[in-house]
Amino acid sequence: MKPTNTQVLFRQEPHGFPTSEDFEIVKTPLPDLAAGQVLISNLYLSLDPYMRMLMGGGWTYSGNPMTPGQVMVGRVLGKVVESNNPDFTPGDRVVGRLGWQTHAISDGSNLDFKIATKKDVPLTAYLGACGSNGVTAWVGLKIIGNPKAGETVLVSAAAGSVGSAVGQIAKTLGCRAIGIAGSEEKCRIVTDEFGFDACCDYKRGDLAEQIQSVANDGVDVYFDSVGGEMLDTVLPCLNRAARVPVCGVLCQYNAEGGCYGVKNTRLIFDKKLRLQGFLLSDYREVWSEARAELEDLVASGRLRYRETIATGIENASEAFTGMLRGHNIGKQLVQLM
Ligand SMILES: NC(=O)c1ccc[n+]([C@@H]2O[C@H](COP(=O)([O-])OP(=O)(O)OC[C@H]3O[C@@H](n4cnc5c(N)ncnc54)[C@H](OP(=O)(O)O)[C@@H]3O)[C@@H](O)[C@H]2O)c1
Repeated sequence: MKPTNTQVLFRQEPHGFPTSEDFEIVKTPLPDLAAGQVLISNLYLSLDPYMRMLMGGGWTYSGNPMTPGQVMVGRVLGKVVESNNPDFTPGDRVVGRLGWQTHAISDGSNLDFKIATKKDVPLTAYLGACGSNGVTAWVGLKIIGNPKAGETVLVSAAAGSVGSAVGQIAKTLGCRAIGIAGSEEKCRIVTDEFGFDACCDYKRGDLAEQIQSVANDGVDVYFDSVGGEMLDTVLPCLNRAARVPVCGVLCQYNAEGGCYGVKNTRLIFDKKLRLQGFLLSDYREVWSEARAELEDLVASGRLRYRETIATGIENASEAFTGMLRGHNIGKQLVQLM
């Protein structure tokens, strides 16, 4: 007998942080497979900040906004259970944009890759350190940030999935890594587990002083996932010709009303800084190279990561809001099966 598909639909644009009212859970029967299609049993759902932008607010990042009634967009790790497609056999593990649902039918076009299991790389790493988050860190740091050995790399959201990878990749390049995170506990994990040289707790309220006290020679690369006031605070700490890969604007995803106006813009000119926004989807040509490198780093223990795992699709929306509020450490996942 065919299983029933449980789906989380986008219901309405949230005001501020999303609540359960903004989602709807439905159960739907699964149709028979057409030629070329596969049935996938979804094992883990990745929860990412970009999904909040797809829920409204006028963002054009990452494709079109969702429309009410649509299955929530999301990357999933799943197992092929039935195949009418010669490229896939039952048992294959795949990662793709399959949405917030327990099952998916795919013709392969929305799949990112088939997982070739590698010793000492756990499966869920393919949604985090060896998946799009790790590759984002790799692209943003190596291509946009372009750090040289001996330079200092400052990383915001450093206890999160992308940020924790950025600092550790920086260390493999011979750089000094300094994190910024939102609690004393997160800062301890950033230094003691992820091996950053120092970490500043931005919620203490004296971020500029903390950065100055640990970045004695200034900052050469600021990996910016937050924007706004934090960027303003960091700008005076940057060295001449520093690079700022702009990976995201976490401070604005749930903000209602106007945007924070960055005041220290004269420093961009004065110090000849280079701020560059980037999107992972524009760097497809390096994905496999990056993933292979990240797999080696994870397998050899040089890239460590944490996961915060919620259980059950019915708890996905709560876990999503929790991640946006900073309740996660490392990659936020939902175990579906
Ligand atoms: N450019 C791209 O192609 C691309 C691809 C993937 C991800 N991203 C971006 O990368 C960033 C990190 O994503 P992720 O998936 O790794 O998420 P994550 O860092 O694992 O989780 C989000 C974290 O952001 C921090 N945060 C939330 N609001 C904040 C605020 N107002 N100020 C400072 N920190 C805040 C929280 O940690 P604290 O407790 O430390 O505040 C929270 O745990 C996001 O900006 C995301 O949009 C960009």
